[in-house]
Amino acid sequence: MSVARHLHTASTLANALVLVAGGEGSGGYLYSTELYNPSTGTWITTGNMSFARYQHTASTLANGSVLVAGGSSSSGNLDSAELYNPSTGTWTTTGNMSFARYGHTASTLTNGLVLVAGGEGSSGRFNSAELYNPSTGTWTTTGSMSAVRCLHTAFTLANGSVLVTGGLSSSGVLNSAELYNPLTGTWTTTGSMNVARYGHTASTLANRSVLVTGGSSGSSDLDSAELYNPSSDTWTATGSMSVVRYYHTASTLANGFVLVIGGENSGGHLNSAELYNPSSGTWTITRSMNVARDDHTASILANGAVLAAGGYDGSGILNSTELYESI
Ligand SMILES: *[C@@H]1O[C@H](CO)[C@@H](O)[C@H](O)[C@H]1NC(C)=O
Ligand SMILES: *[C@@H]1O[C@H](CO)[C@@H](O)[C@H](O)[C@H]1NC(C)=O
Ligand SMILES: *[C@@H]1O[C@H](CO)[C@@H](O)[C@H](O)[C@H]1NC(C)=O
Ligand SMILES: *[C@@H]1O[C@H](CO)[C@@H](O)[C@H](O)[C@H]1NC(C)=O
Ligand SMILES: *[C@@H]1O[C@H](CO)[C@@H](O)[C@H](O)[C@H]1NC(C)=O
Ligand SMILES: *[C@@H]1O[C@H](CO)[C@@H](O)[C@H](O)[C@H]1NC(C)=O
Repeated sequence: MSVARHLHTASTLANALVLVAGGEGSGGYLYSTELYNPSTGTWITTGNMSFARYQHTASTLANGSVLVAGGSSSSGNLDSAELYNPSTGTWTTTGNMSFARYGHTASTLTNGLVLVAGGEGSSGRFNSAELYNPSTGTWTTTGSMSAVRCLHTAFTLANGSVLVTGGLSSSGVLNSAELYNPLTGTWTTTGSMNVARYGHTASTLANRSVLVTGGSSGSSDLDSAELYNPSSDTWTATGSMSVVRYYHTASTLANGFVLVIGGENSGGHLNSAELYNPSSGTWTITRSMNVARDDHTASILANGAVLAAGGYDGSGILNSTELYESI
């Protein structure tokens, strides 16, 4: 990339380019955004956002624009949101959220709205949630989660409900999970995970179970993984990773395996990578990255490769990127 960044976002566009936005750079928080072209393997700078931001979210809308929301910068936490138009390469500001927040989640719903949930602001962590309507460019408050959550995960299930898991509450780390129903605008508690975790990942398997990996329970960092079964609303433990890690990424590959890369643990920053086999429920170590990274992004490209971009290696913020190609 032309700029080193971590705590940025990456969005794969309909035109197959990958849009990387904001984050923290070596010289401060970033307005800049850039595009990766998988056919040439090169990056080009595109429009600047109006606000520098890190720990924000990026959501792809049905019409191909990308909505970034919230985050933090040197001027404080942000309620602002902006839209990137891939046809013009420009950003325009859109409606502000009701709350300035970072460390939240954003999920594109099947009805086209974007659900933002939880996070942290200047008055503490939130259970509040709000919906962005792309037709009006405005936000409205929706039902609140039963728990305050930051650094949790949110995952849209096949039936349209959104599953949120774990995270940091005001009093500690959570094992609880809840479901947002877009038809009613309300949350219901579902089965709890076996282990409390934040800084973990959630990804889908081909059979619609949701795989949660690693993270930290506060007192210890985790190698454990568990599966949510949407038919029974229950969690079961599955094979543990070889390496304890949090602030890593997990990507579901075209062959159905889940690739986990990087992150950190008490021993340092990680370049290791491992694959989850959904048929056996076990993990195997695969090729390591060239560079240790956490708070990086991992994007699936149209050809099935995974693009790891930026992050932090323990001594510096990274401008490097690398590709994992499935065999
Ligand atoms: C990327 O970072 C490395 C190490 O800090 C630096 O030597 C190199 O010039 C940077 N590349 C660009 C394109 O900024
Ligand atoms: C983005 O902002 C930087 C710094 O202000 C400026 O140098 C650059 O030209 C801007 N880029 C675009 C595409 O507007
Ligand atoms: C949105 O928030 C930003 C800063 O947080 C502020 O500059 C802007 O005026 C707000 N826009 C609206 C429409 O309230
Ligand atoms: C998508 O919709 C938003 C909201 O109506 C609009 O601002 C944006 O320009 C649209 N994007 C494209 C690519 O048409
Ligand atoms: C989706 O499935 C979950 C789990 O069974 C269920 O609790 C939820 O109500 C369903 N959502 C919708 C929108 O039907
Ligand atoms: C999906 O596959 C996993 C791993 O084989 C299994 O444990 C889980 O029960 C399956 N989920 C569903 C919904 O069948």
